[in-house]
Amino acid sequence: MVSKPLMLLSGSANRPLAEEIARQLDTQLCRATSRRFADGEIFVRIDENVRGRDVYIINPTNPPAENLLELLLLMDAARRASAARITAVIPYFGYARQDRKDQGRVAISAKLMANMVSSAGADRVLAIDFHQHQLQGFFDLPVDHLYAAPVFVNHYRAMDLQNLAVVAADVGSAKMARGFAKRLNGSLAIIDKRRAAANTIEAVHVVGDVEGKDCLIPDDMIDTGGTMTEAVIALKELGANDIYICATHALLSGPAVERLSNSPVKEVAVTDTIAIPADRHFPQLKVLSVSSLLAKAIGYTHSEQSVSALFE
Ligand code: R5P
Repeated sequence: MVSKPLMLLSGSANRPLAEEIARQLDTQLCRATSRRFADGEIFVRIDENVRGRDVYIINPTNPPAENLLELLLLMDAARRASAARITAVIPYFGYARQDRKDQGRVAISAKLMANMVSSAGADRVLAIDFHQHQLQGFFDLPVDHLYAAPVFVNHYRAMDLQNLAVVAADVGSAKMARGFAKRLNGSLAIIDKRRAAANTIEAVHVVGDVEGKDCLIPDDMIDTGGTMTEAVIALKELGANDIYICATHALLSGPAVERLSNSPVKEVAVTDTIAIPADRHFPQLKVLSVSSLLAKAIGYTHSEQSVSALFE
């Protein structure tokens, strides 16, 4: 793989991230055409020779579903053009929340997405913070699953937060919160969140001491912002000092921006795995980049070096 330079391709979902990755790898994005037919269907064409090349195709698969389709179409195009190896670089892997049959007659969308990525021609997958880490096993392909935590930890270390409590937004994110608490020298608290329905929170109880402390709430994603806003309000009522939120994937759908910007949160740190339109930015939002993490992982993969150092 090292004999010929790698090739980076980007879909339309997050071109600024792909361009930054290319800049850090001292290369250019491969020329490609992506346009729509009159009915909205996507047409893609790779405008450079990829025969025998190590190709990395970057596209997060947040809504709309065309982002996923564009990724699949680009992989199909690269495979049919005889690329030697195709890596699907999926900074945000959508449809991951349904990962088991927890009620009768539901789809397991995460498995279906993994099957589609494999069928379209991926030889490897590079992703960041799956909703459940065990989704790696949904692929019968090598998966390099990176964590955005080091990006956030560096950010908070530079702020030198004292008397910090790291608060798990729900029981499911307790392990992630424990990791942050250890690295930032904070104590741990856990929010017991009950859901009435998807995206609707019923009740919030906090286990642990937060009074008079700065609090950090880490999560993998902010969708409608309901989980985080409820958590911030609950912590404030318990006498927390400044409250910081971080989440890898900023879906920021529906009422998220209004909820978060009106909440008593000091800062909402997210990454650029998903492109955030200018009209979804708000004063407390801080966007940190995962471009360097992905650029290193792509560079190491191409030169057949270990990427484990990036998992730390
Ligand atoms: C839940 O399992 C996730 O980690 C997030 O907490 C959740 O998906 C966020 O959704 P929302 O922002 O709509 O509360």
